[in-house]
Amino acid sequence: MDKSQEIVIRHSINEDAPYIFELLNETWDAAYSAFIPKKDLIEYLNNTYNISKLELLFSNKDYECYSVLINSKIVAWLKLFEDVEKKRFYLSSIYVLPDFQKFKIGKKLISLSYERAVTKSYDSIWIGVMVQNLKALDWYKREGFIFTEELPFNMNETSVPHLIGQKILI
Ligand SMILES: CC(C)(COP(=O)(O)OP(=O)(O)OC[C@H]1O[C@@H](n2cnc3c(N)ncnc32)[C@H](O)[C@@H]1OP(=O)(O)O)[C@@H](O)C(=O)NCCC(=O)NCCS
Repeated sequence: MDKSQEIVIRHSINEDAPYIFELLNETWDAAYSAFIPKKDLIEYLNNTYNISKLELLFSNKDYECYSVLINSKIVAWLKLFEDVEKKRFYLSSIYVLPDFQKFKIGKKLISLSYERAVTKSYDSIWIGVMVQNLKALDWYKREGFIFTEELPFNMNETSVPHLIGQKILI
């Protein structure tokens, strides 16, 4: 990636859905296939983030979805979730295409997540990360997240341990 290229971050729109689906497919394969069978990844992806489910997410007021574009190509996706009942704000998905990782796109998206949480009057932000996703877990810890809870996360027929973490923002 050429560092002078302009990075555009905007709300996801329906036209983005097929590209986000492909982005998830590629990014999950790189990040998760070492510990989750591909057939479970694909089935979970098809059930959870098919085009119509993505479009529903984009119009759901409890969620905020952002697409990151470089030269009109979607290279990253962010999903934020406000759990109104539990009064918690979650960074619920953050995915950067493998070829575009380590260029601070993740940093821009995590900073946007903090801003959105504070704007909505939350004093902390929550995330969940699979224990075996060591790179992301390490990244969150360096960002100041503290992990206190472990719950199973089911991806189709595979269950993996999943850590829940919180970062205090104000
Ligand atoms: C985790 C992720 C969102 C980070 O986004 P990114 O754009 O690659 O991260 P940044 O460039 O902002 O990196 C920030 C820091 O993390 C480090 N880092 C990022 N990805 C890394 C990796 N794969 N391995 C080692 N270090 C990494 C960078 O070197 C940088 O360190 P620095 O601040 O000391 O310079 C991205 O790598 C990703 O999508 N990973 C795969 C999917 C995933 O695991 N998502 C999270 C699910 S919970």
